[in-house]
Amino acid sequence: MDKMMDKLTDKLIDKKFEQLFSAADIDQAVQSVAKQLNETCEGEWLAVCVLTGGLFFSADLTRRLTFPVQIESLKVTRYHNTTRGDKLVWHLKPRSELRGKQVLLIDDIFDEGKTLEALYDYCLEAGAEKVRTAILLDKQHDRKMVDYRPDVTGLKCPDKYVFGYGMDMEGQYRNWPGIYVLSDSV
Ligand code: IMP
Ligand code: MG
Repeated sequence: MDKMMDKLTDKLIDKKFEQLFSAADIDQAVQSVAKQLNETCEGEWLAVCVLTGGLFFSADLTRRLTFPVQIESLKVTRYHNTTRGDKLVWHLKPRSELRGKQVLLIDDIFDEGKTLEALYDYCLEAGAEKVRTAILLDKQHDRKMVDYRPDVTGLKCPDKYVFGYGMDMEGQYRNWPGIYVLSDSV
């Protein structure tokens, strides 16, 4: 893993970064989220991975769920590969029928909250019987734009732009195993 990180690090050229959470920290958080869901979810659920950021969290989380799940995905963006922006753009809608289903939305990070609230509303409007949300990171700030809050979160993260474990920084580094922040923003 160290050699791989050295190679990957070379690509960051003049940018320095710090690790916020190691792969082991993340694994522990995923276990905790799975435990809470396993204790509270009954019946069959449609687990919907919010691409692309939710990719690894969905993969790791769903493999720890002990209740029956079908797996779906959807793709929306709000940041357009920059660190700012507002508009929610649909790239892929779930192909499965949501009507009458118990839907578990799985995403990487709860920032201002607009994305998750919009997706929650979308699922209910599509006829989902119940919608729950599992988010790995809850960004700590007082700029939440919505009253909606995720049902289960794994880790609290500072109010910085973070990347790795599914999350990109300028389109890159989603495949890094931990979660990182640029040093000059620490
Ligand atoms: P929200 O609508 O402000 O809650 O934004 C949520 C979405 O923005 C997440 O699903 C991420 O895709 C993206 N996002 C927000 N903050 C970060 C970050 O620090 N790093 C990477 N992506 C982020
Ligand atoms: Mg996302």
